[in-house]
Amino acid sequence: MAKIAPSLLSADFTKLAEEVRKLEKAGADIIHLDVMDGHFVPNLTFGPPIIKQIRQLTSLPLDVHLMVNNPENYLVKLAEIGVEYVSFHQEVAPHIHRQLYVLKEAGVKAGIALNPATPVETIFPILEDLDFVLLMSVNPGFGGQSFLPLVYRKIEKLRKMNTEIEIEVDGGVNNENAPKLIGKGCNILVSGSYILGNLDYKIQIESLRI
Ligand code: DX5
Ligand code: ZN
Repeated sequence: MAKIAPSLLSADFTKLAEEVRKLEKAGADIIHLDVMDGHFVPNLTFGPPIIKQIRQLTSLPLDVHLMVNNPENYLVKLAEIGVEYVSFHQEVAPHIHRQLYVLKEAGVKAGIALNPATPVETIFPILEDLDFVLLMSVNPGFGGQSFLPLVYRKIEKLRKMNTEIEIEVDGGVNNENAPKLIGKGCNILVSGSYILGNLDYKIQIESLRI
C-alpha cells in the first residue's frame, strides 16, 4: 500500500503544532517538509530550526524535500535533528554520490528529486545507492499547481530499472490521479492542497488510498 505524505506547505503556519496533530490523527504516514531557499525556487519557507521543533511534535517519519541551491549545507544538520527521509535536487548537486553517503552513513534515507524536465536516466548510474526517488509532477516552488501527467512515464521507466526503490510523487496529487500513480508503482504520495485544503483531513487522506 502506498504511504500518504501530507505536505505542511499548505498548512496554517500560525498553528503548526495543531496542524501536525490533526494530520497525525487523520492517518498520515509521513509528514513532508518543503525547504525552499528563494534561489533554486522563487519562494521561501523554513529550515532546520523549525524542523527541529516539528520533530518534537510528532513521532511520524519526517520527509525533508530540499529545494535549495546548496543542499550539502543542510544534510548533517537534518540528520542530527533526526529526520527519516531527505531528498535534494539532481539539478543543483554535482556531487550527488558523495552527498548521498553523508545521509546514508548518518542513518537517513537518501533520495534524489527530479524536476519535471529532468530525465530519470540521469540517475540510473546511482540507482543502487538511492533509498528513494522523488519525482516532481509540478514545477517546484508552490503548492496548488496542476498535475503534469508526464510523471507516469517516468515512474514506469524507474520501476523497470529497479523494483525495490521507493518512488515518491510530489505535486498536484489528488484522488483522480492517485490510483494510476499507485498502479504504475509509486509508493509515497505527497499531497498538500488536496489534503489540507479541506476541513476534514481524514476523508482526504482516505480518498488517496486504493
Ligand atoms: C512544491 C512542493 C510540494 C507541494 C505540493 O514545490 O514540493 O510538496 O507542497 O503541493 P500540492 O499537493 O498542493 O501540489
Ligand atoms: Zn515537496
